[in-house]
Amino acid sequence: MGDYTNMSGYYDLIMTSGYYDYPKIVNELISNADFHQVLEIGCGTGLILEELASRKKDVEITGFDLTEAMLLIAKNRLDKFPQVQLAHQNVTALSLDKQFDLAFSYGGVWYFVMDGVNEPFLVSHIYDEKANEEGLARVSEHVRTSGHLLLGVQGPHKDYQSPITNGYIYSQTIKPIAHGFTKHYFLHANDEKLMEQCIDYRTYTFSEALELLAEFGFTHQPSSAALPQFLSFVKS
Ligand SMILES: C[S@@+](CC[C@H](N)C(=O)[O-])C[C@H]1O[C@@H](n2cnc3c(N)ncnc32)[C@H](O)[C@@H]1O
Repeated sequence: MGDYTNMSGYYDLIMTSGYYDYPKIVNELISNADFHQVLEIGCGTGLILEELASRKKDVEITGFDLTEAMLLIAKNRLDKFPQVQLAHQNVTALSLDKQFDLAFSYGGVWYFVMDGVNEPFLVSHIYDEKANEEGLARVSEHVRTSGHLLLGVQGPHKDYQSPITNGYIYSQTIKPIAHGFTKHYFLHANDEKLMEQCIDYRTYTFSEALELLAEFGFTHQPSSAALPQFLSFVKS
């Protein structure tokens, strides 16, 4: 279920080599909704939260993640921000003594894939259908009425290989499976394999995703942007 232990030691290197554009993500997060208590679902090593905390001093920020090794890096990174709290939790059993006016996931547990041509689809780090429902139920419990859930948008997944810093080569392969796809991540230095990680992702068509999210009180608020960083849902 989305365990990033193998990748944790190399995650920052891969992501900050152009995989994600963190300032751009936070620009859109800030412009999308007015919030005082924010929750990141699957905060990983805290790269988004660092950008957010350095720009929003007056907001209470909470992040949680399933993978302890990722969260340890986040703890070191975010130690200097008193407004940030972190928790080691699986979203399927999320229990924080608090409600939020904004919850978001960017590449975390759930995200949308969109290319501007085909219909967007939802990707989940959780393969099991029931567990997805449990996770969304837990998130819904933590979002106030009229609060927002923002789910990140990524470009289409494909096989590729790309040099990053230090002469390292990052590569990924995608294989379809019954209800989604398996993604294999690799990092090599010359011929030596430094890291390998494999995750099964579940996918939902756009209409299945809207229906699933609506079951837990989240209604889509369409955006006028052609390729937004997030799709926005409001909690009823
Ligand atoms: C691609 S990383 C994204 C991290 C961060 N949002 C970022 O943008 O750098 C996905 C994260 O989701 C976490 N994750 C996957 N399944 C999870 C679950 N069931 N509950 C909590 N976190 C989960 C993983 O441990 C990993 O740290």
